[in-house]
Amino acid sequence: MSYDVAIIGCGRVGLPLALAFADRGLRTIGIETDPERLEAVRSRRMPFEEPGAEEILRRVDIDWSDRAADAAQADAIILTLGTPSFSHIEIDMRDIRSVLDDLLPVLRPGHLLVLRSTIAPRTTEFVAGYVEKHRGPEVGVFVAHVPERIAAGRFFEEIGTLPCIVGGVGEAAGAAAGELFEVLGAPIVQTSPVEAELAKIWTNILRYTMFALPNRLMMECEQYGANVFEVIDLINRDYPRGGMPLPGFTAGTCLRKDFTFSEERSPAPGMLLAVSRVNESIPLFIVDGLKTRLGSLNGRKVAVLGLAFKADTDDERDSLSHKLIRLLERELADVAVHDPHVPTPTQSFEDAILDADAVVIATNHSEFRRPSVLRAIADSARGDAVLADPWDCFGTQQVFARPAELVAGSAV
Ligand SMILES: NC(=O)c1ccc[n+]([C@@H]2O[C@H](COP(=O)([O-])OP(=O)(O)OC[C@H]3O[C@@H](n4cnc5c(N)ncnc54)[C@H](O)[C@@H]3O)[C@@H](O)[C@H]2O)c1
Repeated sequence: MSYDVAIIGCGRVGLPLALAFADRGLRTIGIETDPERLEAVRSRRMPFEEPGAEEILRRVDIDWSDRAADAAQADAIILTLGTPSFSHIEIDMRDIRSVLDDLLPVLRPGHLLVLRSTIAPRTTEFVAGYVEKHRGPEVGVFVAHVPERIAAGRFFEEIGTLPCIVGGVGEAAGAAAGELFEVLGAPIVQTSPVEAELAKIWTNILRYTMFALPNRLMMECEQYGANVFEVIDLINRDYPRGGMPLPGFTAGTCLRKDFTFSEERSPAPGMLLAVSRVNESIPLFIVDGLKTRLGSLNGRKVAVLGLAFKADTDDERDSLSHKLIRLLERELADVAVHDPHVPTPTQSFEDAILDADAVVIATNHSEFRRPSVLRAIADSARGDAVLADPWDCFGTQQVFARPAELVAGSAV
């Protein structure tokens, strides 16, 4: 059997990409080692939420395998493997190295090898060098980096429009990768591999840093008894050089680690680590804010609403909610958790907020952004409960407040 394209690593990025190629008529094979994910896709069930994906999965034909070497039956091989970071600020390329070793014996001249994962600068050239070192210069494999830029949850909305950055090792590799990705419909932007790598990681560094600013400001406002939402409004209102975003829990599998791919060789080490420290401090800031208002949390019920790392996703990897829960548990609080999206079993909304001493909106899911939710909290939680809502889900513009007072003081 021969294929147009093989996708190795059918996770949050790889599976929708495989579906998109198959939907455009490419003969596609998906390679995945996780037996649960494989079993799900073989039975045409999505193993995670991605709007629009399941309909395509039911309709298109994709072959599935758990052997990376099977990818050699395709003209183009795309790696969409995880690239986590070691805790000491260094890219963890074990999955990529292991798959490359599986592929080495079966690669043939004319194969296109695309790195779709987010990678540290110079990784694409390393991969091209690794293949050539082990197979000799005559191997004739084209290597390119084509970074994934979509946001999970918006894959099918964005894949056909977001400019597709292509960094080929040499012009022929860039052209081959451009031709492959053109079928998805988005404009192709040719560049060098290292520029593609930097553009991808600095897109995420930009967001991570931008969100650290209101988060840091939120802490400073608490220090001075000021209202962060009012200060942000003063910064932005009718001001052409404003643009301060709103605070919140900033993490997730990309933002929390992609900065390390720059930081690991930074000529100015520490700057991005400081950004990370600010975002990582938000759960502690919330816990301390609750303690300031409630005293000891020992034996107090705290409802955490939201486990996912961002709104309206079931992805809880690298979510700061877990850190918040651990910190609350270290205060001996009784933590109740509710999330309407994640597969991890959680309590019902009603059970979580019942008689709570504190409620934290940890994820701004659309289910929470409703006046009825605030009313329910005011009705069910204890009379003197504290609500922590750094996202301003209810538009009440208070990071910490008494829900009963919020309801009494507004039209909600
Ligand atoms: N999730 C996102 O929104 C997003 C967005 C842009 C870029 N990225 C980047 O894309 C890459 C993949 O991220 P993800 O969220 O899809 O990760 P993921 O963990 O969901 O997917 C990786 C998949 O690879 C599989 N795998 C591991 N070893 C394998 C092997 N030897 N053979 C076949 N499959 C194997 C895993 O089982 C997993 O299903 C990362 O570099 C990430 O930073 C992610």
